[in-house]
Amino acid sequence: MIRTTTALPEDLVGDVAPPSEDRPWSLVRDVLTLVPQLVWHSLLVVVDVAVAVYTLVFPPPAKNLAGNVVLVTGAGRGLGRGLALGFAREGCKVAVVDINMTTASSTAADIVAAGGVAKAYSCNVADPDDVTALRRSVTSDLGDVDVLVNNAGLVYGGDKLEDCPVDNARAVIDVNLSSHFWMLKEFLPGMKSRNSGHVVAIASATSFGGIEKAAAYVASKFGLRGLMEVVRLELNLNPNNKVQTTTVYPYFINTSADYVSQWKIRLPPISIEDVVEATISGVKANSISVFAPRCLHLALYLKQLIPPKSFERFMSILIFGMLPKNNGCSEKTRQL
Ligand SMILES: NC(=O)c1ccc[n+]([C@@H]2O[C@H](COP(=O)([O-])OP(=O)(O)OC[C@H]3O[C@@H](n4cnc5c(N)ncnc54)[C@H](O)[C@@H]3O)[C@@H](O)[C@H]2O)c1
Repeated sequence: MIRTTTALPEDLVGDVAPPSEDRPWSLVRDVLTLVPQLVWHSLLVVVDVAVAVYTLVFPPPAKNLAGNVVLVTGAGRGLGRGLALGFAREGCKVAVVDINMTTASSTAADIVAAGGVAKAYSCNVADPDDVTALRRSVTSDLGDVDVLVNNAGLVYGGDKLEDCPVDNARAVIDVNLSSHFWMLKEFLPGMKSRNSGHVVAIASATSFGGIEKAAAYVASKFGLRGLMEVVRLELNLNPNNKVQTTTVYPYFINTSADYVSQWKIRLPPISIEDVVEATISGVKANSISVFAPRCLHLALYLKQLIPPKSFERFMSILIFGMLPKNNGCSEKTRQL
């Protein structure tokens, strides 16, 4: 069972002091200092765009990952397995992590058989104690983790919000969102103190747009996008920060024939290999966001430009009836 906190900390729910009446506030001073700052930062936008165009035309040399220790969660199957094999092909030592030790061992064995270095670990990433034990084992076996790939997730939908069993909703949030907190709390301090490392989060196209009958999943992926934004902001508190982050937003992925046959979507799914290629290229280029396929970027920004009703109409002709009911989730939650 996933452990959850039911007792709320006193200091979060206790009484708060009433708002102060005499907060010093000078509107004129604020406006006077804000206007020149806004002008200056608007000019910097032009510089940023110019730099972005320049690096598009003349990309900087890609990072060499050979010899890096890469930890991939949910690497027993699906995208996680593809990522583990992909990083191994780059010459990385891979910690193959999954709640299912049988599939994790099989991924690690395939890497070793191909001449790579890998070790399998059993861990429920939704359990903070398991994650602490994982960090200790991986560090002692393979060394400090250079690239942390938080991929494990429960791809779940099919129930309207009011019909979604509480345990399923809780499991989806715990695995798809809370686990990122536990993993980051364990692995980020080491990266910060070494001032090197890279955190990859596998989010989803649903981090930008909702789909019906997938409330917990969509909420977890929207939350993950926000979490990764905060991680970047906090890393940038150090002006010399060299720890990178990449958040990956894939469209539907062809992870198994069973899975694909149950979808009701108009545009074909993308392959695991395409997402692996986009992710690893993104890590090598220190990309902050990776969209797979790339054109998804434009489609998702279209949402900001057109009225919500219009966007919803577009969605309804592209996706009709999303995700099979209990798509493996009930089976997975029982494992937890
Ligand atoms: N499949 C898609 O269409 C799609 C699209 C966009 C994003 N994603 C995201 O990609 C990631 C991988 O998805 P997938 O389709 O490969 O899923 P999958 O179900 O094929 O594989 C998920 C793996 O995670 C493991 N896992 C589940 N709970 C775990 C836990 N608590 N601790 C450790 N391991 C756990 C499972 O055992 C499994 O090996 C997920 O984060 C998912 O949300 C998937």
